[in-house]
Amino acid sequence: MALVQEIIRNKRDGNRLSRADFACLFGASAHDSWGPLASDAQLAAWAMAVYLNGLDRDETVGLTCALRDSGRVLDWRDLDRPIVDKHSTGGVGDTVSLILGPLVAACGGAVPMISGRGLGHTGGTLDKLGAIPGYVTTPDIARFQRVVREIGVAIVGQTAELAPADGRLYAVRDVTATVESIPLITASILSKKLAAGLDSLVMDVKVGSGAFMPTLEKSRELAANIVEVGRGAGLATTALLTDMNQPLAPCAGNAIEVRCAIDVLTCATNPQRLLDATFALAAEMLVSSALASTRDAALQDLHRALASGRAAECFAKMVAALGGPGDLVEHPDRHLPRAPCRRAVHAPSSGVVRAIDVRALGMAVVALGGGRRRAEDSIDPAVGLYAFAQLGATVKAGDAIARIDARDEAGAARAAEAVTKSYSIEEGVQEDGGSDRHGGLDERSVVIEKIG
Ligand code: URA
Repeated sequence: MALVQEIIRNKRDGNRLSRADFACLFGASAHDSWGPLASDAQLAAWAMAVYLNGLDRDETVGLTCALRDSGRVLDWRDLDRPIVDKHSTGGVGDTVSLILGPLVAACGGAVPMISGRGLGHTGGTLDKLGAIPGYVTTPDIARFQRVVREIGVAIVGQTAELAPADGRLYAVRDVTATVESIPLITASILSKKLAAGLDSLVMDVKVGSGAFMPTLEKSRELAANIVEVGRGAGLATTALLTDMNQPLAPCAGNAIEVRCAIDVLTCATNPQRLLDATFALAAEMLVSSALASTRDAALQDLHRALASGRAAECFAKMVAALGGPGDLVEHPDRHLPRAPCRRAVHAPSSGVVRAIDVRALGMAVVALGGGRRRAEDSIDPAVGLYAFAQLGATVKAGDAIARIDARDEAGAARAAEAVTKSYSIEEGVQEDGGSDRHGGLDERSVVIEKIG
C-alpha cells in the first residue's frame, strides 16, 4: 500500500491518483471499524492539493466510492419500490424536501432522505423538522429503514454509520479553506447518497444571490460534475439548476416553513415558485425511476397525489412514525412554536423590487436565532420571516415587504434593518416580460436548466 505522504506528493505535483490511493486515505471497506490511515494534518494537505490541482472524473468516482465504503451501505433489495431521492445545494425558504418526499412516496417511490442542518445563510431540512415536538431526527438505521418500508418516506439526519469518512474529511475541509472544490463537494454529496442505497438521484443546484455556488457557471459546473460522477458510480443522476434570486417559499425559518409545507400539502395555499420547483424535481424523480414514462405523466400523477390528500397523509404518517404528534397536519398551531414579537418591514420608497440579496435575508434569519453562527449553537425554531414581496412587485412607500416573528423587540428591529437593506427598490414600473437584471435570468421561472 502506498504511503500517505506519497499520495499527497503525487496530487501536489498534479498526478492522477488510483483507486488504491483513495482506499489507503479513507480505509475502504473498513465498515464499523473504520480506522483512518491518514492523520488530519495529512488529510488537510491532501485536500489543499486537490483544491489546487483538481480530480478528474475517474478519480472523483474513486474518492466517492471510497467515502461510501467507509461505512454501511443500506440494502433495500426486499423493497419493490424504486429508491429515489433529491438533494439541494441549499437555499433560503427552500421548503421543497418536506413536500417532495411525501409527494414522491404517494406516487410509489421510496424516499430515504438523509438531510443536513443549516449551513451558513441556508436553512437545513433537519432544523425545520427539529421544530416538530417529539420528531426524532436521528433514529437508528433500523427505525429509519422501517419507516421508509412502511410509509415510503423518512426524512432524517446524517448518522455516523453512513459515509463516516466524509464527516471527518468535511470537518478538515471546513477549517482549511478547501470546502469550495467541485470534486470534493461532488464526492461528499454523492458518497452519502450512495450509502443510502439509492437507485436514482435528482440534484437541485441553486443559482443566484442566495446560492452556495457564486455564479451560474460554477453552479453549472458542479451540476455537470455530480451528474457525470454519479453515473460513473452507478447511480442514475440528473440535475436541475434552479433560481435562488429570491426565497422559494413565502417564508424562511424553521417552524414557519413546516407550517408552510403543511399548508401546501393540504392545498390550503399554493405558493407558485415553491410548487414549481417541487413539481419539477419530483417529476424528474418519477421519470428517472421509471415510475412515470414522461414528464407530463409524472406531473399528472403528482397533481393527483397532492389534490387527493395522499401526499399529506404520507407526511402525517412519517411525522407520527418518527415520534411527532399524530395530529400535526390537522392542528399545526397546537404544536409548532411561534415567536411572540411580530412586526412588518415597510418599503422605504415606492418603486419596483429589482433585486433581493437572498444571502442577507438568510443571515437575518440566522441573526433572529433561526440558524447557527457556530456548529454548537442551538436553534430557535419559533422565529422567522414571511410574506416576502417578490421580485418585480410594485410597492408603495410604507407597504409591507416582509413580516417578522422575533423573540424580542431588539431582534425584530435588527431583522427589519437587515431585510430593508436586502431589498433593492427602484423607481419605475414593472414591464411585461420580467427583468433580466438578476444574472441574466428571467425572474419568473424557477427552473433554469436541466443537466443530464
Ligand atoms: N454539502 C455536502 O454535503 N458536502 C459538501 O462538501 C458541500 C455541501
